Amino acid sequence: MRFDILTLFPDMFESVFRESIIRRAVEAGLVSIHLHNIRDYALDKHHVTDDAPYGGGGGMVMKVEPVILALEVVVGAERLAAQKRSGEVEAPVVLLTPAGRLFSQEIAREYERVGRIVLICGRYEGLDERAITLGVTDEVSIGDYVLSGGEIPAMAIVEAVTRLVPGVLGDMRALVDDSHASGLLEYPHYTRPATFRGLAVPDILLSGNHAQVERWRREQALRRTYARRPDLLARAALSARDRAFLNSLREPAPPRDLASAPATSEPRGSPYAQALTTTSEEGERPMSKRFRGYYGIAMTPFNERGDILWDELEKEADWVVRAGAHGLVWPVNDSEFTRLAFPERMEGIKRVVDAVGGRIPVIIGVADVFTTGAVRLAEASARAGADAVIALPPARTTMALDRALIKAYYRAIAEAGGLPVMIQNLSIPLGADLSTEFIVELCEEIPLVELVKEERELQRQRVSEIVAARSPAIKAIFGGGTVLGLVDGHKRGADGYLAASYVPDIDAQIWDLMEAGDEAGARRVEDALAVLEKARRGTPEHYVDRKQILVWRGVFSCNVARIGTRPLDDAFLAELRYGYQAVEPYFRV
Ligand code: ADE
Repeated sequence: MRFDILTLFPDMFESVFRESIIRRAVEAGLVSIHLHNIRDYALDKHHVTDDAPYGGGGGMVMKVEPVILALEVVVGAERLAAQKRSGEVEAPVVLLTPAGRLFSQEIAREYERVGRIVLICGRYEGLDERAITLGVTDEVSIGDYVLSGGEIPAMAIVEAVTRLVPGVLGDMRALVDDSHASGLLEYPHYTRPATFRGLAVPDILLSGNHAQVERWRREQALRRTYARRPDLLARAALSARDRAFLNSLREPAPPRDLASAPATSEPRGSPYAQALTTTSEEGERPMSKRFRGYYGIAMTPFNERGDILWDELEKEADWVVRAGAHGLVWPVNDSEFTRLAFPERMEGIKRVVDAVGGRIPVIIGVADVFTTGAVRLAEASARAGADAVIALPPARTTMALDRALIKAYYRAIAEAGGLPVMIQNLSIPLGADLSTEFIVELCEEIPLVELVKEERELQRQRVSEIVAARSPAIKAIFGGGTVLGLVDGHKRGADGYLAASYVPDIDAQIWDLMEAGDEAGARRVEDALAVLEKARRGTPEHYVDRKQILVWRGVFSCNVARIGTRPLDDAFLAELRYGYQAVEPYFRV
């Protein structure tokens, strides 16, 4: 493994590289480290490496010439240009910057596999962008905090990669057990003495039963990861037994006996719910604030044959969380729920809840033409650890017109799951066009039926109507149907917005800006989104086109929908791409 480090402070590395594992790896010839002083490539009389920024502002900018010259010497001018041109990277040129992608064990493995990396330690306010354009192939940050330069991050990367080089660590098991190697945090360790100041080593470690020790360690790792880094669970390889153990860590669902249940639902045991009730600055948050913000509807990924791509559904759920959505919903209309088989819905519930791992609330769509189906889905949602369920009335049947049957249906869902229930109100034929007065009646009569998604015709005005009628029994009112309208929805007093999540980072940003009181900022982002929505207007297939956006975003491998799979023609794709480019500058993931 070869490391080249471009820095203005080469002396900083000396003592770190002279010790322990890195020194031994260098001495064994497994690793070579080459330090290059950028100042040596500043060819002017005073070896100047920084200058004032064009456009004014504070601080200094690292000059382009010395960095590019150093790279041309270290990498070779031809290779440097070729790898930028072709994208085939033989020697990754990595700029250390707080603006980069977050360094991880996975990236360390990626670098080790390549066998060579060039690290540029940024200093001052940053590096002239043209040096990045001409030479840098990767920008990496070691955490969401700002250091004075890239030297310490470079040391961290050299150490993380060196440990992965075969032969560097004597005992390969240490590598497998490391925190993050398995995608989980490491279990706790103990050594002699067996008791210290009254603290005994757990009995199981003294039992000599290797299988039980292994299981205990696995459960400790799962418990720690769940408590400290639930975000990691989404990507960890988990067995069915692991998932069952994680589910046992969640608090039991609220009591089934709704007559004795509190009028509002208690927060469940997910770290998200705990954070909302215990760590908010204003003290206890009112329950009505539990469901608030942009809730992304996950679309369902299929392959060319129309089979569900489960891995991609999990990847999408994780991506929506990382994009900053405040909640996740699956499966509703935009997930093609009417085309999913019952066992697929049951399987998907577990997958989606696990992939989110308690980071944001998950609302599961349980609507079904049969009350018994909706009930089983609500029970499965509670078992999986979902935060709420959403249901259209039993539409498309004569039940849609019968108030008593609709009430019985929502009551059965609430009792089965013991979770808050969101009524999804749409116009006929998809919905049952429930009146505002009937919605209030449902919420006031049935415990846990306390959330509303309003998208009848004139939906924005309908949102205002429900806000105006605001009954204490309604804990949150969501708008939705189209991603345009977040600004308006927020101004009308909606608690949130629920829409398909092909640009969740944009939607979440608009909401966050409105919450921060920056309407002008929110409108700027929404105007960019309008360009994309204009391009989508008149699309032959509005599932396929949104899935195409997810393909471009690297989340889906295929844009096939079970509802209509006619391909988009080249002219339409070009229009869509034009719209996509308008929102691209706002992407966060
Ligand atoms: N330079 C300054 N802060 C940094 C960080 N957090 N990661 C990488 N490089 C940096």
